[in-house]
Amino acid sequence: MSAQTKTRRLTAPDIAARKGGDPIVSLTSYHAHTAAIADPFVDFLLVGDSLGMVMHGMENTLGVTLDLMIVHGRAVMRGARRALVVVDMPFGSYEESPSQAFANAARVLKETGCGAVKLEGGRRMGETIRYLVERGIPVMAHIGLTPQSVNVMGGFKTQGRSKDQWRAIEDDALTVAEAGAFAVVLEAMAEPLAARITGTIAVPTIGIGASVNCDGQILVMEDMLGLSPRVPRFVKRFGDVGGAIEQAIEAYAREVRERAFPAASHTYDMKE
Ligand code: KIV
Repeated sequence: MSAQTKTRRLTAPDIAARKGGDPIVSLTSYHAHTAAIADPFVDFLLVGDSLGMVMHGMENTLGVTLDLMIVHGRAVMRGARRALVVVDMPFGSYEESPSQAFANAARVLKETGCGAVKLEGGRRMGETIRYLVERGIPVMAHIGLTPQSVNVMGGFKTQGRSKDQWRAIEDDALTVAEAGAFAVVLEAMAEPLAARITGTIAVPTIGIGASVNCDGQILVMEDMLGLSPRVPRFVKRFGDVGGAIEQAIEAYAREVRERAFPAASHTYDMKE
């Protein structure tokens, strides 16, 4: 028997079972090495379509394709061993009909090996979520600010600032939970509304710029690392990786110019 024990990867039902329990920790991840670094500390990694902006310099997430999500999803699956990996369905890959959503979500699961997909939308996605879940595809929902609808929303704006909007957003949350979503991302949502939804629905809420009382939190990894040039106001920077990269590259450039680098090498052995 092999001495190596295989790490058990968390599943969508494991995340759903954390409702009201220990806070769920999550981050976005788009590539293998950062996924491996984050893996011991997080419950799930989201291959978010924010990768269009963060990795590829797009203006918004609308230009992200299914193929691009699959490439990054596979990379993250290679890096992470324990965390559930959730892959975003990009704009245009699921909204038309439940069967379009199923065909594309099934491709994501088959080609990446991830454990769940995420899609944006509340009441309008209820039927699709139910259709996917009944056919074996775990779905994380995403309501509040839904960046794929930026052109309809008129910008990236906090949702539910006026109490008049609450009823519709609460209906979104109830609908996706009842349709079978195993968790719901609440993005950029007025704090009391996010707290109220968390207390109402039966599945975990994952906040991003929402409420400390959500069942879990998510941030874009590059934003919290201090690698993104501009971040939403609610983001706390936990590091200055951008500054560290700049310093390292400056030191490297100096050494090259001073002919102090590279050290002579007779082998191609690797080092840690
Ligand atoms: O694409 C993304 O990064 C997301 C998070 C902001 C939740 O959807």
